[in-house]
Amino acid sequence: MKHLIVVAHPVEKSFTMALARSYAAELEGLGHSQRTFDLYREGFDPILGAQELMPVDANHPVSTDVARAQGDIRAADALTVLYPLWWLAMPAMMKGYIDRAFARGFAYESSDGVVRGLLSGKKAILITVSGAPLPTLVKSGNWNAVQVLQDTHVFRSAGFELLEHLHFDQVVPQLSHAVAEQHMARVRSCARQHFSAS
Ligand SMILES: Cc1cc2nc3c(=O)[nH]c(=O)nc-3n(C[C@H](O)[C@H](O)[C@H](O)COP(=O)(O)O)c2cc1C
Repeated sequence: MKHLIVVAHPVEKSFTMALARSYAAELEGLGHSQRTFDLYREGFDPILGAQELMPVDANHPVSTDVARAQGDIRAADALTVLYPLWWLAMPAMMKGYIDRAFARGFAYESSDGVVRGLLSGKKAILITVSGAPLPTLVKSGNWNAVQVLQDTHVFRSAGFELLEHLHFDQVVPQLSHAVAEQHMARVRSCARQHFSAS
């Protein structure tokens, strides 16, 4: 299978980036091909500007970076996105990637308020990280909001079959090496669980 991994974290040595590397290495070990799109290091421009909101025609072609991002999605059988939860949302960099790459006519169509995803047939895995414990997020209703707005409104709406939303909670600066290693094992096991037979 062909995988696209999209990751948003400004610090290359962060926990989030380490998760992305472990996951990608596991997929390659399973014989899959993968491209990791490291939005910060590759300098993705997250700003959806006026011209991109114009109707797409010969005079307003899709920007080169968006065309490449969409080509990567089109070529992939599975998309995995990784990011920390900031204010319980995706970082602006990832949001900008979604705003620009998941464009109308590519990721969805809508009419009369009904959205139809255009990326059906593709699988997705969402991997997020938070400082707060998951039970606290669940109790406050915040986890439900995350799932409605991110899992369903973004990825399922675009047509993806969401295989898993894997979440790592209580990731704090003083995280022990042993716990971090357990988390790396868990992200590798996620790759094996979903993709070991294909
Ligand atoms: C701007 C910002 C906002 C954050 N908002 C939240 C939040 O709303 N809830 C939460 O549990 N953690 C929040 N965090 C903590 C991060 O989710 C956590 O530190 C991070 O995921 C740890 O992973 P990392 O080492 O890869 O950065 C926030 C962190 C930052 C920098």
